[in-house]
Amino acid sequence: MSNDPLLQPYQLKHLTLRNRIIVTAHEPAYPEDGMPKERYRAYHVERARGGVAMTMTAGSAAVSKDSPPVFNNLLVYKDEVVPWIRDLTDAVHEQGAAIMIQLTHLGRRTRWDKGDWLPVVAPSHHREAAHRAFPKKLEDWDIERIIKDFADAAERMKAGGMDGIELEAYGHLIDQFISPLTNELEAPYGGSLDNRMRFCLDVLKAIRARVGSDFLVGIRYTADECLPGGTAKEEGFEISKRLKESGLVDFLNVIRGHIDTDAGLTDVIPIQGMANSPHLDFAGEIRAATNFPTFHAAKIPDVATARHAISAGKVDMVGMTRAHMTDPHIVRKIIEKREEDIRPCVGANYCLDRIYQGGAAYCIHNAATGRELTMPHTIAKADRRRKVVIVGAGPAGLEAARVAGERGHEVVVFEAASDPGGQVRLTAQSPRRREMISIVDWRMSQCEKLGVTFNFNTWAEAETVQAENPDVVIVATGGLPHTDVLSRGNELVVSAWDIISGDAKPGTNVLIFDDAGDHAGLQAAEFLANAGAKVEIMTPDRSFAPEVMAMNLVPYMRSLQKLDAIFTVTFRLDAVERHDNQLIAHVGSDYGGVAKQRIVDQVVINHGTIPLDELYFELKPASTNLGEISHDQLIAGEPQSIVRNPDGRFQLFRIGDAVAARNTHAAIYDALRLLKDI
Ligand SMILES: Cc1cc2nc3c(=O)[nH]c(=O)nc-3n(C[C@H](O)[C@H](O)[C@H](O)COP(=O)(O)O)c2cc1C
Ligand code: SF4
Repeated sequence: MSNDPLLQPYQLKHLTLRNRIIVTAHEPAYPEDGMPKERYRAYHVERARGGVAMTMTAGSAAVSKDSPPVFNNLLVYKDEVVPWIRDLTDAVHEQGAAIMIQLTHLGRRTRWDKGDWLPVVAPSHHREAAHRAFPKKLEDWDIERIIKDFADAAERMKAGGMDGIELEAYGHLIDQFISPLTNELEAPYGGSLDNRMRFCLDVLKAIRARVGSDFLVGIRYTADECLPGGTAKEEGFEISKRLKESGLVDFLNVIRGHIDTDAGLTDVIPIQGMANSPHLDFAGEIRAATNFPTFHAAKIPDVATARHAISAGKVDMVGMTRAHMTDPHIVRKIIEKREEDIRPCVGANYCLDRIYQGGAAYCIHNAATGRELTMPHTIAKADRRRKVVIVGAGPAGLEAARVAGERGHEVVVFEAASDPGGQVRLTAQSPRRREMISIVDWRMSQCEKLGVTFNFNTWAEAETVQAENPDVVIVATGGLPHTDVLSRGNELVVSAWDIISGDAKPGTNVLIFDDAGDHAGLQAAEFLANAGAKVEIMTPDRSFAPEVMAMNLVPYMRSLQKLDAIFTVTFRLDAVERHDNQLIAHVGSDYGGVAKQRIVDQVVINHGTIPLDELYFELKPASTNLGEISHDQLIAGEPQSIVRNPDGRFQLFRIGDAVAARNTHAAIYDALRLLKDI
């Protein structure tokens, strides 16, 4: 038996958890019709197979019709959910993991124009900034109804074979009652702490009356809202003690902070560049004060920190939630003493931001997450060893090399630069985004183990590639910044990448024209403003940086607002001309009828990249498939079999930004789904 603190079992009432690592509630937005169907099941089963002790499914599963999901959550107010839950719990239990589910009523943290278009309810009329609905103030019959809904939902979950439930009590309805900031009810549910906690305790009593004592019930709650006038630490400790003393809960899952704004949410779930485990000591204080089973998660991305959380007695169960989205097999790798093989979570928060923007969580550098039904987390060996030549060692090329290596192929990579990583390496130039380099480093170390040959500082020509006698050639050469977007003066501008890489010296009075709206524009703005420049970011869109989603925007705003950067929306840069040692920027608008000017000394363009595809077109005539990829075979997960030129000598494929400007996840997904069948 290992003496690793993380691998020690934990007795939670009648349930033995096989180790100390859990996945906390997170709705990846995979339900279909509000039900946890095959995709949902496959996602959790993969984590259970990987060794996690307990997976807290859902995240904000809705107990009432007037708690409609803002993205895609489980609808546990429907009876039809029970058989789906049964399939899910059976499948996870088969893998030896425990399984619970988080239940909630969102209160004001949702929208009325979702689901059944019912009014949003809360204990006051105060609107939540993030979701914008003006709530109806709860009446007595609403409160009775919702308490019953919680009990009904808990009973359904028990019937479905769950080991337990957790109530969400931070930022959602239960907490909206507890927080003095959001409760303007009279007694018995408003006023004193006794009254503000009454709804929570009534819900717990109603649940207990239904599920009995042999079913686990926990609560995930904020013990310090970190907001003036909100629940402060002292009251949070009192709440913790009262929850324990109520005898109604079996564990506390500690949160510190508030989630009513994007900035607040980002402090609760910190992203890259923010401190690791910022609330762990706080959770430890609650554990010490209550001497009660304590769970906690908040940016504990690595095994060493998780081990410290347990061995220092900060918590009983440590959440590694995003870490398991990146690598579902963390525990297995710890047991096999292969911690260095764990694919690291880089805190990019593509996962979380995307549930709002794209409707489903995906990991920036594990394209199999959320696609367990079609994409493997463990790559199978190919029947036949082939020679695969890859040109380009950006994210697409490196993933292609890793997957081809796992398939057992002989892999040779050519890269023009001296180091791997492409645009990811440039991104990691920003101190705040340094963690991104692990996307590259992890792949390089995996490739090294797999015997992949790298040739850096090598500009591969068609002859270089053909001299290798490849069976398969993958062109992953990426793209070059595309700045040729003005009617006049394209030669006078620099690209956002020029600024980030240091190839262009920062100006002092700079206009950034950003109609790509992705990270590069804001990153360049940060570089420039930090170097002392006065910066204006202009976009023709309705909002700036629309591709940088809510939580990723927070750190940029925290730095750019302090540096007095100006954001101008709905204007388009038309042309630039030189005037003495200045530049005149001519500005128009898609709405018509305006012509403005800006006098600056530097114009920066962020307009994505244009594919670097010469090599691909040179190689095309010598290939069997003439570069063609069968989308049907790609999507069906079948090997590529197109032959257009029987005299060709190799199959040729193009992936990532060498095809069209997209993002890191798209590049990695291109590589995984093609190479897993080669
Ligand atoms: C996609 C996604 C959805 C989430 N949804 C919920 C939720 O519904 N309820 C909840 O309590 N926490 C939710 N979380 C927060 C996680 O439970 C966890 O607290 C957070 O990810 C920080 O832990 P980590 O750093 O180990 O990932 C979500 C997280 C992610 C990544
Ligand atoms: S997207 Fe980023 S934060 Fe989310 S799981 Fe993947 S690496 Fe971690």
